[in-house]
Formats: sequence, C-alpha cells, structure tokens
Amino acid sequence: MTEGVITTAYIAASILFILALGGLSNQETARRGNVYGIIGMAIALIATIGGAQVTSYGTLAVCMVIGAVIGIFVASRVQMTQMPELVAILHSFVGLAAVLVGFASYLDPGAHLTGIEKSIHEVEIYLGVLIGAVTFTGSVVAFGKLSARISSKPLALPARHWLNLGLGLICLGLGFAFVGAEGHSGLIPLLVMTIIAFIFGVHMVMAIGGADMPVVISMLNSYSGWAAAATGFMLSNDLLIVTGALVGSSGAILSYIMCTAMNRKFLAVIAGGFGTAGGTVAASDGEQGEVIAISADETAELLKDAKSVVIVPGYGMAVAQAQHAINDITKKLREKKVEVRFAIHPVAGRMPGHMNVLLAEAKVPYDIVMEMDEINDDFPETDAVLVIGANDIVNPSAQTDPGSPIAGMPVLEVWKAKTVVIMKRSMATGYAGVQNPLFFKENARMLFGDAKASVDAILASV
Ligand code: TAP
Repeated sequence: MTEGVITTAYIAASILFILALGGLSNQETARRGNVYGIIGMAIALIATIGGAQVTSYGTLAVCMVIGAVIGIFVASRVQMTQMPELVAILHSFVGLAAVLVGFASYLDPGAHLTGIEKSIHEVEIYLGVLIGAVTFTGSVVAFGKLSARISSKPLALPARHWLNLGLGLICLGLGFAFVGAEGHSGLIPLLVMTIIAFIFGVHMVMAIGGADMPVVISMLNSYSGWAAAATGFMLSNDLLIVTGALVGSSGAILSYIMCTAMNRKFLAVIAGGFGTAGGTVAASDGEQGEVIAISADETAELLKDAKSVVIVPGYGMAVAQAQHAINDITKKLREKKVEVRFAIHPVAGRMPGHMNVLLAEAKVPYDIVMEMDEINDDFPETDAVLVIGANDIVNPSAQTDPGSPIAGMPVLEVWKAKTVVIMKRSMATGYAGVQNPLFFKENARMLFGDAKASVDAILASV
C-alpha cells in the first residue's frame, strides 16, 4: 500500500471512530455507533498490515490468529455480570502493550535518531512506559476487586501519600537519567522506573475503596487511552495517537461524570482510603428495627392497583438476569394502563451504563427509561417502587449519615413513594458494604429470594 492510501485509510478510520463515539452516547444510535467502530477498526487493521513497517507477514498472521481465537473464546463465554472485569483486564493489556513497545522502541537496533529528535523520542518512550505500567498493574488490581478475588476494602498504608510522592519524585529523577543517556545505558533507569510504576499502579488502586470503584474504572479507561496514544508517538502512528486521545479524553469525561454522580472530587478519589467497609458502618449496622416481608402475590396486587410504578434496577438484576421477565411485567402493567418507568442511577451495577445495556437487551422502550435527575422529584407522587437487586443507590444514609462511606452520593429517593418493594435474597449489604436503613422504613416491604424467581412469580400473578 502506498503512503497516500494508508494516510487516507487512517483518516477514514479516525472519522469512523469519532462517529462511533457519537453513536454510543445514545441508546437509540448505539448499535450504529458500534458498526462504525467495527468498520473503522477493520480499515485500521488492513492499513496497518499493508504498511511498509510490516516485514514478516507469517509472524503477524500467527499472532493475529492466536489473539482472535482468545478474543472470540473469552467474549463468547463472558457473562453480563463479568463484563466489568473483562473490561478491566482488557485495559491492562493496553498498558502492557505500551510497556513492551516502549522497551522495543528503545532497544530497536534500526533506530538512528540523534540530537533533539532522539531526546523527544526518549521522552515519548519514558512517558509511554510509565503510563502503560501504571495502567497495567492498576487494571489487574481493579480486575481482582471487581471479580471479588481481592477485597474491595481500601488498603490504607501509613504515610501512603508520602510514599506516592516519594515514588513520583524517584520516577522524575530516573527520567532525567534516562533521557540523553549514551547508547543503551538508559536501560537501567527505564527498568527501575517500570518496576516503581508497577508498584504505584498496585498501590493506587488497592487504596481505593468499593464505593469509589466506578471512578477508578473510568480513570483506568482513560489511562489506557493515553497509553495507546503514547504508543502511537513511539511508533509514529497517527491513527494510534488519534484513537488513544479519543479513548483518553472520553475516559476523562466519563471519570468526571462518575465523580459528579458520586459527589466526589477526582483528587480525593485518587488519594484513596475512601469507601471502607469499616468506619461508621458499624454504627449504622446496629439494630435498625423490624423489616416487613411481602409475598409475590401481594406485590402483584400492589402493582395492579397502582397508577404509577417506578422500577429501580441494580446489580442484583444483572446477577439474576431478570431483565426479560421485568420487561414482560412492564408490558402487562402498561396494558392495564399503569404508568411504568425505570429509574437509572449513574453507578448502578458494576460499570457505566450497565443497567441501560440490560434493559436495551430486554427491549424495554427507551422513552420510559429515566436518568436519576429526570425522575428523582417524581417519587412523592409514585404509588409503588420496585427495587430489583439494588442497594447502595437507594440508600438514604447517603443523605443522613455524614460518616457513611457513601455520604454525599446522590441516591434515588425511593422511600418518598407510597410503597417500596425491595427484592433481594437476604439482608446482606451492597458493594460499598453499608447497611441500608431503607429496608426498615414503614413503607418498605422486603420480597426475599432470587430476583428472577421473584419477578417470574409476580409475572404469573399479574
Ligand atoms: P449493590 O449496592 O452492589 O447491591 C446489589 C444488591 O443486589 C445486593 O445487596 C444483593 O443483596 C442483591 N442481589 C445480588 N444478587 C441477587 C439476586 N440474584 N437476586 C436478588 N438480589 C440480588 O448494587 P447497586 O445498588 O446497583 O449499586 C452499585 C454499587 O456498585 C455502588 O456501590 C457502586 O459504587 C458500585 N460500583 C459501581 C460501578 C459502576 S461503574 N456502575 C463499578 C464498580 C462498583 P443480596 O445478596 O441480599 O441478594
């Protein structure tokens, strides 16, 4: 392929990626956005394979087949509830790739840069390896926390801020030793910095508590973009720079949205130590009174008699895969002229947009799926609220207990409705490890059991 064709292909792919992002911002256009992304990636792959830098098609083919087989195998087996973990581990691959490309670029015997060009290239390598290494281990720890292989409790080492500052200063010093070093003598500072960045990535995410994980996920998403952009600089690949910048900046915007959704400051999240399962949780864990149980039949009666119903899905709906049955109930109730709407909290589930994806998969009409801000004022006029496997996002202690790990987080004010039915299996806490005073309110009813079984029973009765 000529340079001109490759450049044109790269521009086309960049435009398609931008269109893909635009499409993904809205449920109705998300499918189209995905198609743009797939076409853009196919063009990018073909143009890259056709480039002059590729010298061994055999090696490339073997690597691509192995990668594609693993990708297809993993993606086809992953459960919807494991999606956030998969995303986290995929971010780690981008980070690791940036580290490996950085070392390969530095040791490349074919590189003959001199003077300022050499220094700039070394800065690119250093930053790329640094961001890549932090992204790699940070994402691996995030994967561990999301899959419950690692406790979601924050690791609060004594003087951890000083430790972070110390590691940062050492990396800065090593950077000066690396850039401009003769021959390959910069390899030692590069290696030492990589190890420090690995440790920093682990420490940074270990220090973040369960309640702040949504911000961490979007932040690592952003880091993986910047790591890819740095790799683009190292390889002088414009498309990788553009794509990395798109992912990096959209991840940064997502982090901002997540911070707003949780009423948290970005720097406070990074500083960590928040969202503990300890602290004042024990205080609110104490005797809270009696809970009132309700049966599926009684819930069905309640729903049929209501004029307006709001359904609040949470992580438990994803676990139980109850979205299709809940859509059937919605249809039945709407046939009976009951107004049914869904209330989506920005951090419901375990990844941004988790609930929207599930409801879209079950073909719930988009126009009855409301964001938190759109529906929160309507609860006092709502007859019945159905909370399906949600906990932290409907916890009133976020507003009433300043010592709570979720204090200040905006929540869906479901307790203001006439009656709230909460479906869950036990009195267990949610992801943030906080007891929920909602369950003990006078207008709250607990429908215990697996959400899918409960929804099926309600459906049969409705
Ligand atoms: P959670 O607070 O985690 O509560 C989920 C509830 O679902 C649990 O209390 C659980 O109670 C119940 N449950 C689990 N399996 C169930 C099943 N099969 N049937 C019925 N109930 C079931 O979820 P949420 O309210 O959606 O809040 C999300 C939490 O995750 C927030 O703390 C958020 O910060 C955090 N988080 C979010 C993200 C993103 S980006 N969305 C990422 C990481 C973490 P039982 O065990 O008693 O059934």
